[in-house]
Amino acid sequence: MCGTDSSVVVLTGAGVSADSGLATFRGAGGLWEGRPVEEVATPEAWRRDPVQVWSFYQMRRAKLASVEPNEAHRALARLGAAARRAGVGFDLVTQNVDDLHERGGWDPIHMHGELAVLLCERCGWRGRDLDSVDPGAFVPCPDCGWERLRPDVVWFGEMPYHLESIDAALRGCTHFLAVGTSGHVYPAAGYLDLARARGAVTIVQSLDEPLNVHPTDRFLPGRAAEVVPDLVRELLSELGIAAD
Ligand code: OAD
Repeated sequence: MCGTDSSVVVLTGAGVSADSGLATFRGAGGLWEGRPVEEVATPEAWRRDPVQVWSFYQMRRAKLASVEPNEAHRALARLGAAARRAGVGFDLVTQNVDDLHERGGWDPIHMHGELAVLLCERCGWRGRDLDSVDPGAFVPCPDCGWERLRPDVVWFGEMPYHLESIDAALRGCTHFLAVGTSGHVYPAAGYLDLARARGAVTIVQSLDEPLNVHPTDRFLPGRAAEVVPDLVRELLSELGIAAD
């Protein structure tokens, strides 16, 4: 029993959405396989070849309409709701740019931005739009008329979003759970070390063992949709929180 001094931080990566049918980045069949990230996920690529970058992101934006949240997204939303009701801190930070956490019942902190949002580099306009998904057509800015909005995602070489809120959440964290992330990309990959160093209970769930796992972390291999619901039940009971 941990009482209300407990605070849970969950970090998710592409693996949490894999069971919904979205490709992860690394490994066989991953989005980066045979495609250097510099070609599609950097500001330089967008300046050099906006057509290629836009079509890559438009395909990913279009794909969102055909996928649904899975049991892992739903279980993490149940964990968040039950924790908040019990006065236990809860933050869900995701590196994912899909919208499956929110559709599964919990609004996460999107540290790498969101596919659903478009951004004008000229005037700073931002808006949600999942209707314009033609890979061959740029979307002009409705505010200043600039010819092409960009996806509001964080590219390599850009600063991730919400770093201050994430740091605040990690500061008080007693339980840290990483789901479906390979531990390759910083700063997110460093949060596990940080939580461990601050004495939190650290749990890592993933299909393959991530790069940043430490012997004192509890590693739970397997598919997120199968493993996370049981893990959430266990955590709720350990924290002394009623499920509903
Ligand atoms: P990766 O593709 O690097 O890693 C996905 C992780 O999920 C791996 O550890 C897999 O073993 C695991 N996995 C695959 N299927 C799974 C399943 N069904 N259940 C549980 N785990 C599963 O994705 P991320 O770590 O999220 O950044 O990648 C981090 C960042 O790198 C992304 O946000 C993106 C990318 O480049 C940017 O684009 C800025």
